Amino acid sequence: MRRFFFTFNLLVSMLFFVFYYYHNNELNTGKVMLNAHKTGYEAITALGDNRTFILSPYYEPRGPTPSVRVLAIIHHSVTELYCWFHCVHGSSVSVWAHIDLHKHWFEFPYGTANLLCAEPPDCPYQYMSVHWSNTSHVTHLPRFEVRNRPPPAAPSVNFTVCISTMYGKYNNVLQTIQSLEMYKLLGAGRVTLYLNQCHQNLEKVLQYYVEEGILEVIHWPINRFLRTSREWHYSVNSSNQVGYYGQTATLNDCLYRNMYRSKFVLLNDIDEIILPVKYNDWPSLMESLQQEYPETSVFYVENYFFPLFGDNYDLNMWGDVPGINILLHMYRERANQSMLSARKLIVRPTKVHQTSIHNAWKTEGEFTYVSNESAIVFHARKTGPRFGKEFLVKDWTLWRYSVPLMQNVDKVIQQLFPRH
Ligand SMILES: *[C@@H]1O[C@H](CO)[C@@H](O)[C@H](O)[C@H]1NC(C)=O
Ligand SMILES: *[C@@H]1O[C@H](CO)[C@@H](O)[C@H](O)[C@H]1NC(C)=O
Ligand SMILES: *[C@@H]1O[C@H](CO)[C@@H](O)[C@H](O)[C@H]1NC(C)=O
Ligand SMILES: *[C@@H]1O[C@H](CO)[C@@H](O)[C@H](O)[C@H]1NC(C)=O
Ligand SMILES: *[C@@H]1O[C@H](CO)[C@@H](O)[C@H](O)[C@H]1NC(C)=O
Ligand SMILES: *[C@@H]1O[C@H](CO)[C@@H](O)[C@H](O)[C@H]1NC(C)=O
Repeated sequence: MRRFFFTFNLLVSMLFFVFYYYHNNELNTGKVMLNAHKTGYEAITALGDNRTFILSPYYEPRGPTPSVRVLAIIHHSVTELYCWFHCVHGSSVSVWAHIDLHKHWFEFPYGTANLLCAEPPDCPYQYMSVHWSNTSHVTHLPRFEVRNRPPPAAPSVNFTVCISTMYGKYNNVLQTIQSLEMYKLLGAGRVTLYLNQCHQNLEKVLQYYVEEGILEVIHWPINRFLRTSREWHYSVNSSNQVGYYGQTATLNDCLYRNMYRSKFVLLNDIDEIILPVKYNDWPSLMESLQQEYPETSVFYVENYFFPLFGDNYDLNMWGDVPGINILLHMYRERANQSMLSARKLIVRPTKVHQTSIHNAWKTEGEFTYVSNESAIVFHARKTGPRFGKEFLVKDWTLWRYSVPLMQNVDKVIQQLFPRH
């Protein structure tokens, strides 16, 4: 049965290959700029003291009394901040901010913080500011609208994927299109992506999905303010100020932005796909998991590398499109303790207060390690196997989607990078 299945898929890919062979042309690299006004807005604002950077305030109804949670990146020397609520009748009220540092700073001098401010009584407001003083006058401070206030009654989608952070001259066009098409096949209603920088080829791809309506791009120019590291720990290069392009800050921003808009939020990178194994899509996976674990708010899924391995690379029917073809990554590395610790998350966002890359630190409810028989993180990498062939297992889970995936990916490539 498997063999038949494979042969069938092989035939389909060969057809595509032949098709491409006769339509082989230069990749069109026409420039389309992602316009910040069209596709989103900038998600970071400097307060002017070089120590405090605000992402956004979010209404927080989950405490004993309603408050506002301001997501920020601050210097470790910052110990005092105030929320200034701008009342609609004209006055402004300052409220002391409880500074709740995020657990993971990895020794960097700047890191993610939550500023928690109680809502002032008798001050109906829509906007607020943040300042290090509760006395100076606040007319020239940047004003932020408090989001999620009031929280929408029902989520508009069931599954949102949060992607943090795209940076450098990222040009992995093929894998990005394949990941986005897989998310759609699996049930994504929205993908929220934080963009620092990417290659112009990829800008075209992002623009396409923004126009299609599935993708929300949040501009994240953090390197304008801080020296950002591509390494996870400060000790690797001590001239950097904040870790991994502020990844934990964007992940939390994405969580709060989607808290009431999406029933579930998936937190993974663009080169990863949370892939159901026993089920065909995320709705059936989550229905089953929720029945089995009704109290769970955070599901951890094991991360498996699918390295560059095998002899089928001449089958790549999109050979002239830059990037990885995930369909050629058919071998997965066997479970290994160090990989399992790099699990990725499916969460019920309303139950999560603070998240990180591989762990949600502050949550309500329980957490569950999802068995690799229910779901895995498919993580295709352009590097070869790390431990030798004996650790590789053939895995066709992704190939169940190969027919619609190839069709959908091809449609996008035809449109964006047409061959004349
Ligand atoms: C912030 O940093 C810039 C560049 O390092 C410097 O020119 C400026 O004076 C600093 N501003 C404050 C308020 O410290
Ligand atoms: C400003 O904050 C300080 C310390 O929290 C407090 O002692 C003082 O009363 C506050 N002043 C005003 C005007 O709120
Ligand atoms: C979300 O899931 C529910 C079932 O849990 C379904 O009734 C509803 O149609 C789904 N909404 C969307 C937008 O897919
Ligand atoms: C350390 O980081 C700085 C600033 O990001 C960079 O200019 C420098 O090249 C880095 N040094 C090394 C050894 O990577
Ligand atoms: C799935 O998980 C089990 C238990 O951790 C492990 O023994 C097994 O090797 C895993 N399967 C694969 C294919 O990695
Ligand atoms: C597991 O991963 C670690 C670190 O990546 C590696 O040193 C070790 O050899 C791996 N073990 C197996 C059984 O693959």
